[in-house]
Amino acid sequence: MIRKDPLVDLLIHDLTGPLSVVSTSINNLLNKEDRFGPIPDAQRETLERILRNANKAKMLLQEMIEVYRSDEGLFRKDEVIIAEVLKESLLDAAEIINPDFASQLSRAGSERKFVDILSKNGISLEVSGRYSQHPFAHDRKKIQQIIRNLITNALKYRKEKMKLSIGGDLDLVITVEDDGEGIPQEKQDYIFKRFFHLKNKTECGAEGLGFGLSCVKSLVETMRGEIVLKSGEGEGSRFTVRVPPL
Ligand SMILES: Nc1ncnc2c1ncn2[C@@H]1O[C@H](COP(=O)(O)OP(=O)(O)OP(=O)(O)O)[C@@H](O)[C@H]1O
Ligand SMILES: [Mg+2]
Repeated sequence: MIRKDPLVDLLIHDLTGPLSVVSTSINNLLNKEDRFGPIPDAQRETLERILRNANKAKMLLQEMIEVYRSDEGLFRKDEVIIAEVLKESLLDAAEIINPDFASQLSRAGSERKFVDILSKNGISLEVSGRYSQHPFAHDRKKIQQIIRNLITNALKYRKEKMKLSIGGDLDLVITVEDDGEGIPQEKQDYIFKRFFHLKNKTECGAEGLGFGLSCVKSLVETMRGEIVLKSGEGEGSRFTVRVPPL
């Protein structure tokens, strides 16, 4: 359970408005040149970066709202198509870690090309079991939030490789593995606490808030599922999440 703090409620509420104004305004500058005039390339890049980061901040707020909602047991019952959720989660995670990689992926065109680009970047996908053919009954946004957070971490902390597997015949089983430095046994409980970092910076320079895994754990628990970490120093990490259908 996430402890509710009225100040946090207020913060989420009050930040949503200004952030939306920032992203809508930049969107207008970038896409309505007939109205605002042409944008030189050098400025376009900077504006795009501002837009991406404003969107990231909005996404973070959205995640906090989602966790609060699920704490209240408020789940939507969607028919979740796992292949779609995987694709969107990979795009979101790539956008956070490496925007160039994200644009390559979004231009892929076909399913095959998408998987090809992933594998050239050390990412493998394996979907088996019931949900390779049938939708999974649960809240789509929350399933996506779990997968996106685990993939973002794996991409942040891997050396070269990441593997994402989906399986299960009743409960959905999501496994995300990487070949990074791993997490020593004695730190494994702490990483699920809010604002905890093992190190301040990763190789790719992406800094986080230490918020993602605490959200994932809280979500998974309210979904009556479980999250298990298998890792050790120098051994990479493997996170396995099991969620029963709604
Ligand atoms: N796959 C992983 N390999 C190694 N360490 C990890 C891995 N995933 C998480 N960690 C460690 O656990 C900490 C907490 O992870 P968490 O996802 O909560 O935060 P974050 O990724 O730093 O920031 P945020 O997700 O809020 O952007 C990380 O800072 C990192 O030290
Ligand atoms: Mg994270």
